[in-house]
Amino acid sequence: MASIHIAADVGEISDKVLLPGDPVRAKIIAENFLTDVHQYTAIRNIFGFTGKYKGERVSIQATGMGIPSISIYLHELIEVFGAKKLIRVGTCGGMNKDIHLRDVVIAQGSSTDSSIVKQVFGGAVNFSLLADFDLLRKSVAVAEKFNLPVKVGNVICTDLFYNDYDDPNGTFGDGKKTFNDKLRRHGILAVEMESAALYLHAAAAKVQALAIFTVSDDLLRKEFCTPEERQSSFNDMIKIALETVIQ
Ligand code: HPA
Repeated sequence: MASIHIAADVGEISDKVLLPGDPVRAKIIAENFLTDVHQYTAIRNIFGFTGKYKGERVSIQATGMGIPSISIYLHELIEVFGAKKLIRVGTCGGMNKDIHLRDVVIAQGSSTDSSIVKQVFGGAVNFSLLADFDLLRKSVAVAEKFNLPVKVGNVICTDLFYNDYDDPNGTFGDGKKTFNDKLRRHGILAVEMESAALYLHAAAAKVQALAIFTVSDDLLRKEFCTPEERQSSFNDMIKIALETVIQ
């Protein structure tokens, strides 16, 4: 039985899933890191693949960009296909002086300007969106084992890629400081657009989730990765995610 947005039969998708936003990245990951690969969906050109990594079945499901899009795939993966360990592998914008292009960032927590938490809890609770502790500590241990540096901390998951958070006169600026300055002061490492949905859905469904990113652009220093530069650090992130998800 397929779901609305994923053309697979139940059983065709592993309970261990990596989640890139970009369908082409999903294909690249499957082709370069997995063996015995088969593609189970191409609905809307949002591809999904199942294969083996070190003998373990792993699926790579693209999610599209942003909270609404990833939420569709999370719901169907978890509720229809029985996903239990979900690791997002994506890009983020570095926001902090300690974060540089091509760094790998692991989201211990996800703060968000999205209304999804309010949709679940009303205004009553500012629910903390957290990584699964078991996946988090395993990912850090894997990174140490393979000598791949990672930065672990809080990220901001935004609904608007083109927001005005770098404008001191923007929505939440105070005329002198930007909203990003405030986020930075509170230790936010990076900005991206999906982790809050991942952590919220995982908490509700009692499954394990983690979000790992490669820094593709640096909002502080106004620097951007070339596509070639993105690829090599992207590979470090995939290795960490795959080694973590099979444990
Ligand atoms: N903003 C939001 N999401 C992102 C960014 C960004 O600058 N870079 C990669 N994902």
